[in-house]
Amino acid sequence: MDQFIMKGGVPLRGEVMIGGAKNAALGIIAGALLTDDDVIIENLPDVRDINVMLEALKEIGAKVDRENRHTVRINATNVDSVSIDDEYIRKIRASYYFIGALLGKYHRAMVPLPGGCAIGSRPIDQHIKGFRALGSGVQIKNGCVQAEAKTGLKGAHIYLDVVSVGATINIMLASVLAEGRTIIENVAKEPHIVDVANFLNSMGANIKGAGTDTIRIRGVQKLHGTDYAVIPDQIEAGTFMCAAAATRGDVLIKNVIPKHLESISAKLLEMGNTIYEYDEAIRVIGTAELRPTDVKTLPYPGFPTDMQPQISVVLALANGTSVVTESIFENRFKYVDELARMGSNIKVEGNVSVIDGVHGFTGASVNALDLRAGAALVIAGLAAEGITTVNEIGFIQRGYEHFEKKLQALGAQIEAVSSERDAQKFRLKVS
Ligand code: UD1
Repeated sequence: MDQFIMKGGVPLRGEVMIGGAKNAALGIIAGALLTDDDVIIENLPDVRDINVMLEALKEIGAKVDRENRHTVRINATNVDSVSIDDEYIRKIRASYYFIGALLGKYHRAMVPLPGGCAIGSRPIDQHIKGFRALGSGVQIKNGCVQAEAKTGLKGAHIYLDVVSVGATINIMLASVLAEGRTIIENVAKEPHIVDVANFLNSMGANIKGAGTDTIRIRGVQKLHGTDYAVIPDQIEAGTFMCAAAATRGDVLIKNVIPKHLESISAKLLEMGNTIYEYDEAIRVIGTAELRPTDVKTLPYPGFPTDMQPQISVVLALANGTSVVTESIFENRFKYVDELARMGSNIKVEGNVSVIDGVHGFTGASVNALDLRAGAALVIAGLAAEGITTVNEIGFIQRGYEHFEKKLQALGAQIEAVSSERDAQKFRLKVS
């Protein structure tokens, strides 16, 4: 029964250090397969999805040495299999990056269809379209993607029908070693796309245009080793920004790139919070009188879908009605029923939620449901009166390192417990 138990009502105050970007690191770990030299990755978050990716690398023969908690050295010289499969890798979304990387290096890959959070249908047709355009055969058999390019991969002109983070990174991974020039149009522009491109370029790849609508790649024959530090996690930072606003706290969030947080800052400002931006930090001072506003999720630089549940919790405490439109994943409002147990007033119609702000939440027992929904419910619990338990925190631990410890350091009364006895102890302690 792993759960977070918390007593809300304490404004968060102090400083928090943000870790490396999970979604960039996932692409980067797969990218380490593209060379036989040592690849050192720094600022790696110590979270479940990352550790599953590293385990999968070991299973196919790569050498993976943890130099310290946030630094890993990978060497792929002895990789002896292009087939990745275990019960854990099936559960994570980013397993699909192994298709691009294995195909790029060995021209063959067998990887199970990706899992990940159940937030929508999440097809990978655009990834497959890209691999096929590069000259690979791709078929889905027994739940696995089987890809093979018998005569190697050749550069191509690829237009993505939907803006996809995963497809953009995956096609980059496959094409950096392909023969000739690849042009990918209508690509995603998220900071982690740029980070994966910078990482691959630091290995000798020739990728131009990452961060714009069109990426141009000139294939090279070989990539070399590198020592690369992952960018800070935009979503972890945004989550703490929302936690500061929801609890009416005052939090300095360090090791961030404020530019990546602009869409989140803009919304929190519209709601009446105070924000100070520094070179590598951002301070959020929550207002007692939150104003409502509307939010629409969009590909970067729009408001991130991965922040939709967290900002919705803040909006649910505002003085008035807000409208949230989810335009990336159709099934991302499941947390609304959980939040209702805490007294929120939200109606969902298709991909739109109408949030009537309430004066405050009251503690309840709720289920995390998915990674970001889980984080949002923790924020709600910290803002609520009384005790909240958030169950199934394995979802949250997929993407947040030491979430409860970072919150404790900001004054939150929260603990991770795994038995009813420990939960009782916590209740006694805070009563
Ligand atoms: C990644 C992130 C996830 C984030 C999402 C959007 C990782 C591991 N996950 O997910 O946290 O919420 O970006 O920022 O980095 N689509 C297709 N066909 C495809 C691919 C995508 O139709 O082949 C659609 C999806 O259903 C969705 C939209 O495109 O509606 C965007 O998805 P995408 O950007 O690919 O998300 P993921 O890579 O799955």
